Amino acid sequence: MPVAIVNDHGGVEWQNGAFETTFGSDAKDWLNAGARAVGGERGWLQDFFMDGDEHRAIDVEIEGRTFRVERIMTADGYSAPAVALWFEDVTNERQMEQSKSDFTAQIVHDLRGPLSGIQGTLEFVLSQEGAKLDSMYTDLLTEAQRESERMMGLISELLDFSKIESGNFVMEKEPVRVAGVLKRAVRSLQQVAGRDEIFLMSAHGRDAPQVIGNVEKLTQAIINLVSNSLKFTPKKGLISVGAQIVRNGDLPESLVITVTDSGMGIKAAEVQQIWEKYKQSGNKSLRGGGGTGLGLYIVKQIVEAHGGEVTVASLEGIGTSMVIKLPVKKTSDTGITTSPRLTTS
Ligand SMILES: Nc1ncnc2c1ncn2[C@@H]1O[C@H](COP(=O)(O)OP(=O)(O)OP(=O)(O)O)[C@@H](O)[C@H]1O
Ligand SMILES: [Mg+2]
Repeated sequence: MPVAIVNDHGGVEWQNGAFETTFGSDAKDWLNAGARAVGGERGWLQDFFMDGDEHRAIDVEIEGRTFRVERIMTADGYSAPAVALWFEDVTNERQMEQSKSDFTAQIVHDLRGPLSGIQGTLEFVLSQEGAKLDSMYTDLLTEAQRESERMMGLISELLDFSKIESGNFVMEKEPVRVAGVLKRAVRSLQQVAGRDEIFLMSAHGRDAPQVIGNVEKLTQAIINLVSNSLKFTPKKGLISVGAQIVRNGDLPESLVITVTDSGMGIKAAEVQQIWEKYKQSGNKSLRGGGGTGLGLYIVKQIVEAHGGEVTVASLEGIGTSMVIKLPVKKTSDTGITTSPRLTTS
């Protein structure tokens, strides 16, 4: 494996034979380039010196191949601060990973088409009032409809997840009326709530402002939270979705969206782990089967891509409240409220 001791100017202080045969004398060119800041952006080699702990290993493109460069140690006794690095060629692995996640995204995307067809058919049959369906068949078809909704939810979640993992989770941002987002999310789950005898309502102040964001993704985040509440709240329970501005003096500072339920709550010991991918708490879903444990992970990614944060307050046996806080910045005195423009990848 190529190993070299490199100083913070990109000079090679020592190299092994593998380093020499792999890179030859060209190494000094790309090492020098890595040691400089180009267009204000720090070169990859500088990362090892400035944020050494955070950047223990970095993927670097070298002459058309991808190398995983890992710092083995900082080395003393040279003309300048130096680090020992080893270089592993990971070109094939990275290509495989990329094509695997592209492949997953494509399959998951293609699954939606036929499933929409099934859903449409079920909806049509169930809405035929003239047709005298035996109540047993109505029940069975309703069950099929419920499961197909669940499957559609899982597919959308996997699609978002594979986009996040492959770095393709880009969202266009525009001014968004939060009241509209809440209304859409609640409307899409109202039928499920009614069927399960749960009272689902949304409330927001008259002045619920605009934020700069992505309507689809924000709606998805609220839907994920409300679907969780629906899974973990018993019959006759209450779920409320609300939005409110938090002011600092006269200036709006943030917009807080809450999804609160009167459900079973989450154990204190499990409350931290629920944001991680595939992590579920010990709670058993009251209806439908279990999910994949990706819902909250996706919510967190969406909220953070909006510059916000999401937290949870929960009491076992009493209920759960999920709180999304989005930044709202008043720009000059035009009275226009916006949140900072963010780019995500
Ligand atoms: N409102 C809630 N009340 C009680 N427990 C909750 C609530 N929201 C989330 N949880 C717990 O947190 C876990 C993680 O939630 P998350 O949405 O990430 O996954 P999931 O709902 O199990 O699956 P998925 O959303 O991927 O279908 C859930 O399994 C559940 O145990
Ligand atoms: Mg969920």
